[in-house]
Amino acid sequence: MNDWGAAKVREVIETQYLKRPLLDGPAPAAYAWRRDHVGVHDQSDGRKYVGAAPTVGRVSGTVLHRIGDLADQYEHLEAVPVGEDPALEPFRFPVQYVVRPQTDEHTGELPVRATRSRRREGPGTVHLVGGGPGDDGLITVRGRRLLATADVVVVDRLAPRGLLERLADDVEVIDCGKTPGHHQLTQDQINAVLVERALQGYDVVRLKGGDPFVLGRGGEEALACHAAGVPVEVVPGVTSAVSVPAAAGIPVTHRGIASSFALVSAHDGVGAVELAASEHPTTTTLALLMGVRLLRDSAAALVTAGRAASTPVAIVEGGWTPRQRTTVGTLADIADLAEARAVGSPAVLVVGDVVTMRTQLGAFAPERP
Ligand SMILES: C[S@@+](CC[C@H](N)C(=O)[O-])C[C@H]1O[C@@H](n2cnc3c(N)ncnc32)[C@H](O)[C@@H]1O
Repeated sequence: MNDWGAAKVREVIETQYLKRPLLDGPAPAAYAWRRDHVGVHDQSDGRKYVGAAPTVGRVSGTVLHRIGDLADQYEHLEAVPVGEDPALEPFRFPVQYVVRPQTDEHTGELPVRATRSRRREGPGTVHLVGGGPGDDGLITVRGRRLLATADVVVVDRLAPRGLLERLADDVEVIDCGKTPGHHQLTQDQINAVLVERALQGYDVVRLKGGDPFVLGRGGEEALACHAAGVPVEVVPGVTSAVSVPAAAGIPVTHRGIASSFALVSAHDGVGAVELAASEHPTTTTLALLMGVRLLRDSAAALVTAGRAASTPVAIVEGGWTPRQRTTVGTLADIADLAEARAVGSPAVLVVGDVVTMRTQLGAFAPERP
């Protein structure tokens, strides 16, 4: 247990339980009792013990973590009478109170804030974390926990950037801030910084939008780390290809309408778009990423490849963000509609009859007009 964690446990017991300061004897009042919990010995009467143990998620006795290590990741701790938590009955010392982090179970909160650098001997690990489509709540539990222990966070423009505000001051944030046509850091520079920081002994979270391995160059970053002998972990994320249409009430598959979907990059020209349309039946929904710039060309290529000009198309901009907006048309008129509404990136284009489901399902995220 670290001193900071002990102090925090002690403070909670003093303010929420004893309502007075703990009395110190020869030993400090708060100390590590066993590997998986903390005991606090109030020496005022020589007999009274106050137990403190974390309960994170479901407690099974073996799935207990050290409160001292956890305490520095959680902003809020609470004192709870043991009688309210049957999972703690097996403790063999006279536990009266439990100090536990307020976590997902209680408040939906998970740690993001770390309070100390964990620089170590030997290389740190690079964690390629998929942050989901932009909303802070759509990152995985594992991704959030890794943010809480990261020394360095290397972040993309479309990642859930709201989480950055909650990182501790001593976390180094490197902003790759890519906007279309304006790469603040080139991919080689990003690879180099990941490797460099990890070789300095730091744990690095590479926070990316969506999923790291879906049109996200995560594979290249992992290969660069492998080549330099840096350990890599990939934490999947919720890809925009599926979640952004969903935010607008469009399922990429729906029984009787579409039994498959194809994810296509429109970044490097319309060749891939035309190929996808000619290779797949009309029951395959096409989800185009990075498709705004070449929208007119893509729509024309899809018709050339055999899709009816009346095929429904939706463009969902800024999915799961306050800027979310959906424009619906057909392959014949979508480019004009988009121009009239000044549609911009980031956006996912959905091509296929599933777009019609939107009227029945409605948007799952608030839309701007
Ligand atoms: C470089 S790709 C990265 C895709 C990401 N790895 C994923 O799995 O979602 C960036 C493209 O993803 C799409 N995108 C990502 N986040 C989005 C969002 N919140 N709303 C709309 N489109 C988004 C856009 O097509 C954008 O141009």
